[in-house]
Amino acid sequence: MLEIRGLSVSFGGVHALSNISISIAPGRIYGLIGPNGAGKSTTINAITGTITPTRGSILWQGEDVSRRPQHWRARAGLARTFQNLALFQQLSVRENVTCGAIRMHRDEDLVATVDSALDDFGLGDIGDSPVSVLSLGTRKRVEMARAMVANPKLLLLDEPAAGLTGGEIDDFCTRVRSLKNRGSAVLLVEHDMNLVMSLCEHLYVLDFGKLIADGTPEEVRESPAVQAAYFGAEHDEQH
Ligand SMILES: Nc1ncnc2c1ncn2[C@@H]1O[C@H](COP(=O)(O)OP(=O)(O)OP(=O)(O)O)[C@@H](O)[C@H]1O
Ligand SMILES: [Mg+2]
Repeated sequence: MLEIRGLSVSFGGVHALSNISISIAPGRIYGLIGPNGAGKSTTINAITGTITPTRGSILWQGEDVSRRPQHWRARAGLARTFQNLALFQQLSVRENVTCGAIRMHRDEDLVATVDSALDDFGLGDIGDSPVSVLSLGTRKRVEMARAMVANPKLLLLDEPAAGLTGGEIDDFCTRVRSLKNRGSAVLLVEHDMNLVMSLCEHLYVLDFGKLIADGTPEEVRESPAVQAAYFGAEHDEQH
């Protein structure tokens, strides 16, 4: 469904991504992990169109979309959440969630679709509250609802569990598994290794903008390159 080939992204002299290749199939949960600054958010930004790659191709259902605008990609089935949340703070919960659905439905369907998403995410009672007054966990739930109301084929999640309580993390896992069960794919960027190991079926590991390993969680855990990136002296010397 998604084929990234030889993707490189540079910001001036910083090589945020160097020649990475990633494949994503429907109905599977993928993890994208790596130390701080490894290039994880940059990968999501390139896939969804917030940045333009320096080199390489991003094939989405067979078509190179690497120069397509963000809204085109959203409409084609790519949805995301942001590491630092990107909600409209002064708008209500309902208005924020509506933003995710607005391109997807005819007007008469829109209200019903948003209402049902608000109920599904336990946001029905606070639909009229401005986002700015909500807790971090609730704001993250609003962002997830905004992404999911578009009924994405691939949902890209940038550190969705950071700052959540145990109960909120359990709820999050249930939602991710339900997406998989209806045939969507998920790419999860996350530092919480317990969460990554329990949810993901396949992992990609980045370090200094390079893909250093990919495979099942067990394969990746055993990889010497991954162990060096996370714990090794070799890695410290590169810093
Ligand atoms: N817009 C930008 N302009 C300049 N440099 C950038 C930009 N975005 C990212 N970078 C740099 O690219 C590299 C990769 O950053 P990225 O945010 O993708 O890392 P990350 O793996 O998401 O890290 P973290 O786990 O801390 O979120 C870093 O060196 C970062 O400073
Ligand atoms: Mg990041």
